[in-house]
Amino acid sequence: MLIVPKLKIKNNAVKRIAVLTSGGDAPGMNAAIRAVVRTTIALGSEAMGIQRGYAGLLEGLVHPLVPSSVANIIQRGGTILRTSRCPEFHKVSGRKKAIEILRRQGVDSLVVIGGDGSFRGAHLLHQESGIPVIGVPGTIDNDIPGTDDTIGFDTAVNTGIQLIDKIRDTASSHDRIFLVEVMGRHSGMIALHTGIGGGAESIIVPEVKSSLDSICESIDRGVRRGKTSSIIVVAEGCQFGGVTPLAKELEKRGYSTKIAILGHTQRGGSPSAHDRLLSSTLGAVAVHALLSGVKEGMVGVKGREVQITSFKKITGKPAVLPAELLLIAKNLAV
Ligand code: ADP
Ligand code: F6P
Repeated sequence: MLIVPKLKIKNNAVKRIAVLTSGGDAPGMNAAIRAVVRTTIALGSEAMGIQRGYAGLLEGLVHPLVPSSVANIIQRGGTILRTSRCPEFHKVSGRKKAIEILRRQGVDSLVVIGGDGSFRGAHLLHQESGIPVIGVPGTIDNDIPGTDDTIGFDTAVNTGIQLIDKIRDTASSHDRIFLVEVMGRHSGMIALHTGIGGGAESIIVPEVKSSLDSICESIDRGVRRGKTSSIIVVAEGCQFGGVTPLAKELEKRGYSTKIAILGHTQRGGSPSAHDRLLSSTLGAVAVHALLSGVKEGMVGVKGREVQITSFKKITGKPAVLPAELLLIAKNLAV
């Protein structure tokens, strides 16, 4: 259970709160949108939805939302507001246009559900306009400093583990080595958690250099103690550039492998109970924060506590992969 901060809601200045989703979609974003919209309306303000993230904002795709607009979405993956990556938002001119549109629409506060990149844009928008902006961490990668958890991570890890279970059935039937690629261009969090939960023999992450020798050694060690199959979980952003080049390198050393790229399957699907609760809580607290006068920052979770951290403390900083977990994973595969 999460511990929610006690914020003193003033609710006299904020009249209209807009919400958008940006960057990669993540299961639970819909539950977060629902929480933002329903909490905003329950506390006496108006809710607006912005379609297709910053790109949609620049096109003026801003519409009112009512409680029924977000009915029947808590269980749905993806994002009903849709999302995008928007190069124009990197430019001052792009953000100036966005600020003008927000002002024209009478939006006095914004909630951005997205990842680290989206928060950099959100921070700049706040600095350049004074418009209060609160970020809600929504990314399957779980790579945002200032929060232990992000919306979609738990579901993505569960999906990865379910798929690995299926791969293990066929791997063990055919005595095969499988290289399973999971998402994570810059972060090994998904690989590490999916690997531990799926009982992987090896886990290869972008943050730690792995030698081919050590990968071969872990396969050989398994063989020596009677294992006839192996699952190696590989983050897409690892030094080898994913499973395809790694399989070629292993082939040169005489290891025949099969590859499975889980890819975007991990981004889809109905959010887990954990993600629904996280999304609902963070979405609600984002609105509480705006109505209590907080001007900027991300609503995240540290331990069990929901906390608001200024964007400047979190953006552009690499998230740290827990070294202790890596060691645990290594020892579990002995
Ligand atoms: P995520 O939010 O999941 O990390 P991205 O890094 O793709 O995804 O960022 C999403 C969007 O946020 C980008 O397409 C861009 O519009 C905006 N954005 C990212 N970085 C910046 C930045 N440094 N300055 C302004 N806007 C940014
Ligand atoms: O940031 C979430 C994420 O799914 C990463 O794990 C992955 O590298 C990236 O987005 C893929 O993005 P796209 O769907 O735009 O290729």
